[in-house]
Amino acid sequence: MTNLARNLTTAAKEHGGRPAVRLDDLVLTYDQLLDGARRVTSLLRSSGVGPGDRVGLVLPNVPAFTVLFYGALAAGAVVVPMNPLLKAREVRYYLEDSGASVVFAWEAMADEAAKAAGSVGIDCIPVEAAGFLELLAEHQPAQDRVRAELADHPGPVSLLGHRDTLPWTRSVIDEALRLFPPAWALSRRSHQADVIGGHEVPAGTLVIMSPWLLHRRADSWTDPLVFRPERFLDAGAGRSGYLPFGQGPRLCIGREFALGEMVVVLSRLLAEHRIGLPPGWSRPAAQALVAVHPRGGMPLVVTRSDGGRG
Ligand code: HEM
Repeated sequence: MTNLARNLTTAAKEHGGRPAVRLDDLVLTYDQLLDGARRVTSLLRSSGVGPGDRVGLVLPNVPAFTVLFYGALAAGAVVVPMNPLLKAREVRYYLEDSGASVVFAWEAMADEAAKAAGSVGIDCIPVEAAGFLELLAEHQPAQDRVRAELADHPGPVSLLGHRDTLPWTRSVIDEALRLFPPAWALSRRSHQADVIGGHEVPAGTLVIMSPWLLHRRADSWTDPLVFRPERFLDAGAGRSGYLPFGQGPRLCIGREFALGEMVVVLSRLLAEHRIGLPPGWSRPAAQALVAVHPRGGMPLVVTRSDGGRG
């Protein structure tokens, strides 16, 4: 689509590593700006926003504005920027007049925009500094890549051998198990006295290891809290601190079956559906029971890829 968004793609190709947006200590390079904008585009497309639709922005001068602005343009949408100090009545006027399909609002000032959006029956997506990347992390690009891989895959998906046949799909699962290993803690009773990591461990001690904590160590993983499946495409990368299925003689006996099952289920689901998050979603706290659960559940919006609601 030819519009201003094309300039960003060109700039990122030529000067990807150079600063594009700077606010105090925060610097976004052209590559990062483009990546963020692409996620916004996917988010908008999965919400049904297309060429010619209007997208409202009620944000102050923050980097998120630029990301949303270019993301909306790349979706072919028209941006309707609004002063974040407007009252609900005024925002409503802009929304109605422009026929906006959705509005993003800076969370600290989102009340008036949310009231206005509610009164005209559209979604108001709150944008806050810390949660902004999480909002984008609906991971539609990762989902799209699974779909593209499946489209190239001949015949039905089998239970085994996915590292070669569906490397991206398998990496998405590996990365999900890294960030959210259901078995968050493993325990052993020491048979004899030993020294572990400089600590004396007498015989008969209960030793607890946590895959959850190990998987989030910055000395083993680059940007450990970021969902980045590509780290698993490189065979052998960072595997030493990775044990979602345990390790050693008591390694999970069902590992290959569980992984195969997850690839089959994910591929069947994503072949025909998009998985999204409800507007206003915030990540539920992890609840450490026998396995880790999202406290209060994990609501998802499942839409058919052809546009119908699943
Ligand atoms: C995502 C799914 C699964 C995860 C995250 C998982 C995780 C684990 C972990 C971490 C252990 C090691 C416990 C320890 O070291 O104390 C384990 C052991 C075990 N798992 Fe799984 N598991 C999964 C699926 C399955 C399935 C599908 C089966 C059976 C079909 C299975 C059967 C077992 C058995 C029998 C053991 C005990 C092995 C032994 O002690 O020798 N698991 N699992």
